[in-house]
Amino acid sequence: MAVMEAAFDPANGEAWNRSQCGGILPMRGVEFFLVRADETAPVAGFALWRTLLDESELLLLAIDPAHQGKGLGKLLLDRFIDHAKSAGAHRLHLEVRDGNPAVHFYERAGFRIAGRRREYYRGLHGERHDALTYSMIV
Ligand SMILES: CC(C)(COP(=O)(O)OP(=O)(O)OC[C@H]1O[C@@H](n2cnc3c(N)ncnc32)[C@H](O)[C@@H]1OP(=O)(O)O)[C@@H](O)C(=O)NCCC(=O)NCCS
Repeated sequence: MAVMEAAFDPANGEAWNRSQCGGILPMRGVEFFLVRADETAPVAGFALWRTLLDESELLLLAIDPAHQGKGLGKLLLDRFIDHAKSAGAHRLHLEVRDGNPAVHFYERAGFRIAGRRREYYRGLHGERHDALTYSMIV
């Protein structure tokens, strides 16, 4: 939760709260990875996804701002892709707020825009932001 709160600006409504995280973790097909800068360091980031049949959805991926730009996000994304493939996924999905610079991160990794969900995110003061949906065949 510390990484979640540091990585996502509450103004944009992308972060999940503790109760949302606690609710999804026991669900079938849900897995996550944590990453640390070294073995004894605190958690620097996480990826959370769900695989159902031959599809995996990346639900959340975040790196603490103090550790961004060091390759940890790519490491987690690659692990997610490898793990999803091993679990039988052939198509990967994710959603990202339109305007989040992370779109470049996902596009560099090979994800392509599949659609738009209008006013999907609700910001701190009720403002709405579209979500872009991305997918990749693996
Ligand atoms: C998106 C995020 C996970 C990237 O993690 P990171 O550890 O900083 O990224 P990396 O250092 O692994 O960078 C991997 C590649 O993506 C590129 N990249 C990363 N962030 C980028 C940005 N904001 N704009 C453009 N390119 C970016 C890097 O240049 C790098 O490219 P390369 O492989 O060609 O060198 C991180 O910025 C983050 O946690 N953001 C806040 C939370 C968020 O919005 N998550 C995504 C929505 S769920």
